[in-house]
Amino acid sequence: MMTEWKRLLVASLALLLAIGGAPAVSGQSTPTAAPGTCIPEGGIEAQDSYLIGMSQANEGEPWRQAMNDQIAAAAAEHPELEVVFSDAAQNNAKQVADVENFLQQGVDLLIISPNEAAPLTDAVATVCAEGVPVIVLDRKVNGDQFTMWIGADNEVIGQRAGEYAANWCSEQGHDPCNILEIRGLEGSTPAQERGDGFRTGIEGNPAATIIASQNADWLREKAIPVSQAMFQANPDVNVVYTHNDPMTEAAIISAETAGLNLDDILFIGIDALPTPDGGIRSVIDGRIDVTYVYPTGGAQAIDYALQILKDGEIPPAEVVLETEEVTSDNAQELLEKYGG
Ligand code: FRU
Repeated sequence: MMTEWKRLLVASLALLLAIGGAPAVSGQSTPTAAPGTCIPEGGIEAQDSYLIGMSQANEGEPWRQAMNDQIAAAAAEHPELEVVFSDAAQNNAKQVADVENFLQQGVDLLIISPNEAAPLTDAVATVCAEGVPVIVLDRKVNGDQFTMWIGADNEVIGQRAGEYAANWCSEQGHDPCNILEIRGLEGSTPAQERGDGFRTGIEGNPAATIIASQNADWLREKAIPVSQAMFQANPDVNVVYTHNDPMTEAAIISAETAGLNLDDILFIGIDALPTPDGGIRSVIDGRIDVTYVYPTGGAQAIDYALQILKDGEIPPAEVVLETEEVTSDNAQELLEKYGG
């Protein structure tokens, strides 16, 4: 993440250039070439149209499809923007190649939602070093060689989920209160953050204990056998915390197959898509008990892309999006709010 002093340095450099009467590029107000902004010296030249590359980690998942749809819809309102999409299909090497291809195609800006942080860090830094602005969405890369990051705070989401579980456990009088955790892909930052946040969230109730934790890589199909094995080994379970809704749905199916009483178990998910098979509908239908809105940031990415490309602005290093807790109390209202 770009440090605050570096931002200040960028701003002061821009001011010095402006005072010194540096030749203005039309439409540009803050020419700079400071590291970590990825904005070329003299700013970005005004053009009739701009090509944006959108590197998606895996189009096979509904939440990622929603992100792409939002980007396409937001960009469609600006005829001067063209967005080309690539799908890494959960493969880091493929995503590195996708990013290199975009650079070769001469994209004016890269948006990327990286599959895993470490394997994509250098590819993103290379694009940045070429003076192509990079907006990182949702999952992070390491270091600060990108223009900005947009996403919700996964640590906070995990913590809220943990606090919800801890309260429920004491309300139900479960001591111990046995929790199963099904995690996202380990090298992707939200899996770490949602796991860490949850652990902080349950600290207030010593009865709440994670008795087993397994990885299902964010995937519903992987979470079916993983959760089956977990229920077999731990039939005495009170809470199932999964890092996203598709894996929660898988766990619900497995719990049913294992002959467990679904009403006795608290199922917690994350994403809360407003789609027919999304988390909000699942709460309304009484399957998932609680989930958290995880906005894709697609529309915001296009807004900032325009500011960077057309207005010559240096955006904030980080834009944190809001989450909301979805329970049977507010699910209908939230479905309407998010356009489901
Ligand atoms: C989709 C997804 C979402 C999750 C996000 C985390 O790939 O697993 O369900 O919220 O990625 O990056």
